[in-house]
Amino acid sequence: MPTVLEALENRSSKRAYIDKKIPKDILEKILNAAAMTPSGANMQPWKSIVISNKETLTNVGDAIIARMNEGLMHDQFIQYYPVKWVNPYKKRRIVTGSGLYKLMEVDRKDDATRLQMWHDNFRWFGAQTVVFVFTDKSNIDGSQGAFIDCGAYMQSIMLAAQEFGIDSCPQGSTTEFGKVVAKVLDTPDNLALLYSVVLGYADDTSKINSYQPTRAKLEDNVTFID
Ligand SMILES: Cc1cc2nc3c(=O)[nH]c(=O)nc-3n(C[C@H](O)[C@H](O)[C@H](O)COP(=O)(O)O)c2cc1C
Repeated sequence: MPTVLEALENRSSKRAYIDKKIPKDILEKILNAAAMTPSGANMQPWKSIVISNKETLTNVGDAIIARMNEGLMHDQFIQYYPVKWVNPYKKRRIVTGSGLYKLMEVDRKDDATRLQMWHDNFRWFGAQTVVFVFTDKSNIDGSQGAFIDCGAYMQSIMLAAQEFGIDSCPQGSTTEFGKVVAKVLDTPDNLALLYSVVLGYADDTSKINSYQPTRAKLEDNVTFID
């Protein structure tokens, strides 16, 4: 069983999974633990739809890819990524993306393979379960606290999963097509999709899963005042 520090240090986004279903009782344990995430005023603004049904996941993925094929860049409730990228964030994004393509030996100009790798998000990297996290639109209408709470909830899911040998990949790619997801799942009008988290058993033989982007030095992001 990993310690909290080990779970934090060992987690990394996995993008290839074996064809093995997560037992329902384990999913319940993970989601019960994640429900202990703190939130402002104990608001618990997350509303999760946990899908382990292959057909439903295929339908969601098909719908997103169909919209992409129509040339749509996004159909979203919230704008996740910065509208204007500035350094050092821009550089980190480029370094992280190009590191992955380099590992996978994908050429910078190989648009078809890059697109395929993006589509892999909507095939859930072969995983059997995806947690779609929504919030009530009223929580994000002029205030941002729910984003903070639901972000912490995301990490709780991923850390709790580690305890059961389950890996994960958070997805902002689904955020960008949140309205498509909502339509396929026929969710109530008051809900907005924030993100999804793929959960499953990582394929340890897959090269892509060896990718572990580094982090900025502590002093770049942390200031101690003693
Ligand atoms: C909110 C959020 C959205 C993300 N969206 C995606 C995504 O759509 N597809 C993907 O492959 N990785 C996605 N990632 C994973 C990041 O690329 C990854 O966390 C980052 O590069 C650090 O790598 P690590 O998670 O392996 O430590 C996302 C991560 C977060 C936190």
